[in-house]
Amino acid sequence: MSETKIIEIDKNNIDLQKMQCCSDCIKNGGTVIFPTETVYGLGANAKDEDAVAKIFAAKGRPQDNPLIVHLSDVSQLEQVAVDVSDRAKRLFMAFAPGPLTVVLKRGPSIPASVSAGLDTVAVRIPSHPVARALIELSGLPIAAPSANISGKPSPTAARHVTKEMDGRVDYIIDSDDCEVGVESTVVSLVQEPPILLRPGKITLRQLESVLGTVNLSTAIFAKFDGTAAAPGMKYRHYAPRAKMVLVRGYDTQVREYIHSKISHSNLKCGVLCFDGEQEYFKQATAVKSYGNHSQPETLAHGVFDALRYFDETDVEIIYARVSDGSGIEMAVYNRLLKAAAFNVIEV
Ligand code: TXA
Ligand code: MG
Repeated sequence: MSETKIIEIDKNNIDLQKMQCCSDCIKNGGTVIFPTETVYGLGANAKDEDAVAKIFAAKGRPQDNPLIVHLSDVSQLEQVAVDVSDRAKRLFMAFAPGPLTVVLKRGPSIPASVSAGLDTVAVRIPSHPVARALIELSGLPIAAPSANISGKPSPTAARHVTKEMDGRVDYIIDSDDCEVGVESTVVSLVQEPPILLRPGKITLRQLESVLGTVNLSTAIFAKFDGTAAAPGMKYRHYAPRAKMVLVRGYDTQVREYIHSKISHSNLKCGVLCFDGEQEYFKQATAVKSYGNHSQPETLAHGVFDALRYFDETDVEIIYARVSDGSGIEMAVYNRLLKAAAFNVIEV
């Protein structure tokens, strides 16, 4: 791979002419990093096996971790999936375009390598205007994982990809920071009852309002046990360089515990906290808030940027405050569990 070109696009005033080099690149089998409402994605033509291979190479992604195929409209579902049920269509009608991915039976136009050999395909219709414009201009389904090096936190701002992915892709579309901040909710409809494979902004309750009972994958809250249906769940993910420990319990006890740890440790400590708590943790080498405890969507928006921040410091261990809940908090907690390799202390 040679030089990576950066194209700046304003999502509120999309210059389609300027974007044309990116859609041409997709049509010609190249790779483009583009913003979505969740995280930045690393896209290529989902129908082209060689183009798809470039995605795996650029990320250093294990071959057995399948990709999500991005469409711009529900009417394109049948181009990538077969046996699309009314229930699947109802689900998309309710939440698309938006941060939802649905696993369906894979159609013949999508090469097996997109789905890591599975006979299913994960499909998502993003709402971000730049992502939509790229799909529409190229006239193709776009396979795209999060645009990070495999194992690193997902990128939620253009600055997260410009250095990390330089020389690994053809184009980067530099646009605004991603609004949601955690990746899409992934639900599989290929078994009964449906399974929530990855929590996201679209909550379990919202899914159940359309689907009835939805089971939770065991991989959301526990280490991979060999049976997870979302193969991506088994890898160490989102991990900062430093070791990470999540601390759970009542606010005051958690703060006291972390305070005492950072005061007595021989290691350089970092603390991932909530807005307004920085003063408790002054002794730490690095303190970073990821959002407002009482506004969980701010935690989702800030979590990956905060994890990346610690890699710019020399901390050796990070203590993290976490939030409980069944809404978007579940998504944030799931990402932090993985970043911490399921290392949780209850106080
Ligand atoms: O928000 C998002 O979904 C972002 C943006 C770019 O759209 N994409 C994203 O892709 O997060 P990625 O590759 O980082 O995560 C895809 C997840 C993985 O956990 C993968 O295992 C699961 O979706 N997945 C993909 N295809 C699947 C399939 N056929 N069956 C089960 N799980 C699948
Ligand atoms: Mg990813």
